[in-house]
Amino acid sequence: MSHNQFDKKSEAWSALFSEPMSDLVKRYTSSVFFDKRLWKVDIQASLAHATMLAQQAIISQKDLIEIKEGLATITQEIETGNFQWKLDLEDVHLNIEARLIALIGIAGKRLHTGRSRNDQVATDIRLWLREEIDLIAALLKDLQLALLEVAQTHAEVIFPGFTHLQVAQPVSFGHHMLAYVEMFSRDEQRMADVRRRTNFLPLGAAALAGTSYPLDREHVAIALGMADEEGRACVCQNSLDAVSDRDFAIEFTAAASLCMVHISRLSEELILWMSQSFGFIKISDRFTTGSSIMPQKKNPDVPELARGKTGRVVGHLMSLITLMKGQPLAYNKDNQEDKEPLFDTVDTVKDTLRIFIEMIAGQINPDSGQKEGGITVHTANMESATLKGYATATDLADYLVKKGLPFRDAHEIVANAVKTAQTQGLDLSELSLKQLQAFSPQVTQDVFDVLSLKGSLYGRNILGGTAPAQVRLQISHHRKRLT
Ligand code: ARG
Repeated sequence: MSHNQFDKKSEAWSALFSEPMSDLVKRYTSSVFFDKRLWKVDIQASLAHATMLAQQAIISQKDLIEIKEGLATITQEIETGNFQWKLDLEDVHLNIEARLIALIGIAGKRLHTGRSRNDQVATDIRLWLREEIDLIAALLKDLQLALLEVAQTHAEVIFPGFTHLQVAQPVSFGHHMLAYVEMFSRDEQRMADVRRRTNFLPLGAAALAGTSYPLDREHVAIALGMADEEGRACVCQNSLDAVSDRDFAIEFTAAASLCMVHISRLSEELILWMSQSFGFIKISDRFTTGSSIMPQKKNPDVPELARGKTGRVVGHLMSLITLMKGQPLAYNKDNQEDKEPLFDTVDTVKDTLRIFIEMIAGQINPDSGQKEGGITVHTANMESATLKGYATATDLADYLVKKGLPFRDAHEIVANAVKTAQTQGLDLSELSLKQLQAFSPQVTQDVFDVLSLKGSLYGRNILGGTAPAQVRLQISHHRKRLT
């Protein structure tokens, strides 16, 4: 080994290795071309580690100053694209360490005291993921706000509520949007919960058994912001678990999968609603594409892709959870496979949320200052679709129950009324009072209050119900929570 640096991986190990690695094995075992993405947190953790080593007099103040300078140079080199990443040096950790030694010599060789790549990489991923979780949580908030906006403008819009994709009962379109706000608010809570368990410090576990140096792990944790709400350091309490635990990555990917499932359900609805057969909404042209053969087409590519990418994220969850199955304690190289699924999950979820926020809320045009795009709602089509489905049949049954009939009898009477209306091509509200009274003498003029779509909608004024007053109440609760 040359005096000041190592350039090849075998030189990073020891003199024990007498045979060079084949190119294929090098390529197979190296991770630098994807894990270099961790460089910033790797340096951040190294700085915290070195500062603590100096404080504990394990390295000198002079060493620390040199390490800081060296890492600052490396930061600059990476940021300006002048850092030479070497496949030979396997991963981000060895690349940065080798460069540090090349830059500052002996002090650089002291940085790895009391540390192993096993606790180093576990720390890096946690730091990196923590930051990404915060970004995702912020996007989830914005998405909820965008949906609230649509809900507010359409609290009174009558929409055909479906079960089995058959018209069931009238609901407020705002209420329908709020169902998604509930889903994304749970996603936000799940992210916060995963963040709590991600934010623990593995450093100090070293390879697997801890270290004999008097490290101050709590100090490093606090320096890296790994603390609970009361400011107490969050440090992994078992060295074997510290280096091998990837639960947080699995939990995150599970939360991300669920979030994508919600996006996928919304996508499916948007796709249906904008088809000619429904004609309920329009989304901005910039989220659709044409066809190379059919000139009339505008396809909902963005929601379709989001629905498709959900499979990809759920796949990453399967990868990660299967990765851990059967791993003996403590660290195994299998764990290097955690990065690509995790990185791709984060990228996919962030891009998807960003694009949905824009698609739903629209965007401020910097030139005109006007809001452009967003969802256009065709309220008349929603209402006429609701009218077609005998959506107030349950309301008629409930009306008869309130007049003293047992529900089962009322149900039967209304089924007959619907049958008659169907043969005459009429809605229930279009039958005459006389016709309705033929089914049940209890019917009086006030029946038309419940048979109208509006009457049905406003009648469901119960907590969690679809009456516009309830929708507005929920919107204000959500706004308070989100702002
Ligand atoms: N690149 C490795 C990973 O991602 C770093 C840890 C390697 N540790 C080891 N003992 N080989 O997991």
